[in-house]
Amino acid sequence: MPTIPFFDAIIIGAGAAGLFCAGQAGQRGLKVLLIDHAEQVAEKIRISGGGRCNFTNQDIDPRAPHKHFVGQNPQFCRSALSRYTPQDFIALVRKHGIAFHEKHKGQLFADRSAEDIIAMLLAECTAGGVTRWQPCGVRKIAFSPSSASASGGDSYQIDTDRGPVQARSLVIATGGLSIPKIGATDFGYRIAQQFAVPLVERRPGLVPLTFDGDAWAPYAQLAGLALPVEISTGAKKERMSFHEDLLFTHRGLSGPAVLQISSYWQGGAPLAINLAPAVELGEALARAKARSKKLVANELAMLVPSRLADAWVGQSPANPDWQRPINEASDKALARLAEGLARWELTPTGTEGYKKAEVTLGGVDTRALSQQTMECKAQPGLYFIGEVVDITGWLGGYNFQWAWASAHACAQAL
Ligand code: FDA
Repeated sequence: MPTIPFFDAIIIGAGAAGLFCAGQAGQRGLKVLLIDHAEQVAEKIRISGGGRCNFTNQDIDPRAPHKHFVGQNPQFCRSALSRYTPQDFIALVRKHGIAFHEKHKGQLFADRSAEDIIAMLLAECTAGGVTRWQPCGVRKIAFSPSSASASGGDSYQIDTDRGPVQARSLVIATGGLSIPKIGATDFGYRIAQQFAVPLVERRPGLVPLTFDGDAWAPYAQLAGLALPVEISTGAKKERMSFHEDLLFTHRGLSGPAVLQISSYWQGGAPLAINLAPAVELGEALARAKARSKKLVANELAMLVPSRLADAWVGQSPANPDWQRPINEASDKALARLAEGLARWELTPTGTEGYKKAEVTLGGVDTRALSQQTMECKAQPGLYFIGEVVDITGWLGGYNFQWAWASAHACAQAL
């Protein structure tokens, strides 16, 4: 009978976390097999950051992960983020001669293409002598504790499309559920269930929000309009706010402001949006009233985008003063106009779902994992890294930094 190939570690999922972990572990001298069912390696890196991959964020404070990471226990990622920092990844990018730039709020992007980051990760795997099987499906996983294992230690037997393999350690790096058409599956969660590892409920994150058709009809004409806003949700203590750009769409709201707040939005809760955060609208309209005879909409268009001014004023037959020259409008009507734009309260009916989400919230419960190594506390040799874990970063390179840092922590422990 042919012997079953034995590896020190088998990593399932050749995305950001899996590729990085494989390269690091291989370079430590371990015999590593990396398996992915997709035709192409690292599809999410390829499409990330508009094709330029926002590969990290240099403003991450590893001592305060709750500032930029969501999950039941964001403190969990403190150890991994402190031991592998954005500066470490930047040094690697520099070593590979990849040019990059900062775009916005600490976000670093490749100058040329996300392909450069993928090529770098593949080169790191080659340097570590990593064996890569792709495309290759995984059919079944079994665990033999040392007492029952032919190799003498604990081992995982993995039945793949290319035959059986076994390893001392098994790393699950199969990511979350977003964008199923490029290979996302629930594989990681199913393996967690197989080994009785608890899960936190999953839902789409960094995702556009949608509204009921009729309620949204007056705003659908604004599709394509982008503007800076302040957006908030949540009750007093848990209130979260972002100052970012918002984008109107045919079905609802998108843009960085909405993607960020979506990770904190609880179904049924309202959002509060200030559509003109840089001006004190009430005072500005009162000043305009004192000096101008233009229509309210025309004066408002000096303070907010004109499409928004027209739609906002036009949508309200209940406020006939808004259709008048501003000097004829009552103070009360102008105050109501300012208040409505500065405190627009609306309740989304849902999200665009995993088809459009950038990430999956929830996943493998961090209480079941070691924060030093990502190993399951109750299942020796089984590790979960990257997005499959209940750690989700903000928009802006945080999710890749979590992928690199959790992969690094794991690779040092394999
Ligand atoms: P990742 O999803 O990268 O990899 C998982 C791998 O597992 C895939 O290769 C998949 O094929 C494989 N797999 C899945 N099921 C399998 C199975 N059953 N068998 C075998 N293999 C399987 N983040 C960021 O920081 N900056 C950015 O610019 C962006 N931009 C961005 C844009 C878009 C459109 C999306 C959808 C996402 C982003 N992100 C991002 C998020 C980021 O891409 C994401 O958090 C990381 O890729 C997660 O890395 P992982 O390695 O955990 O999963």
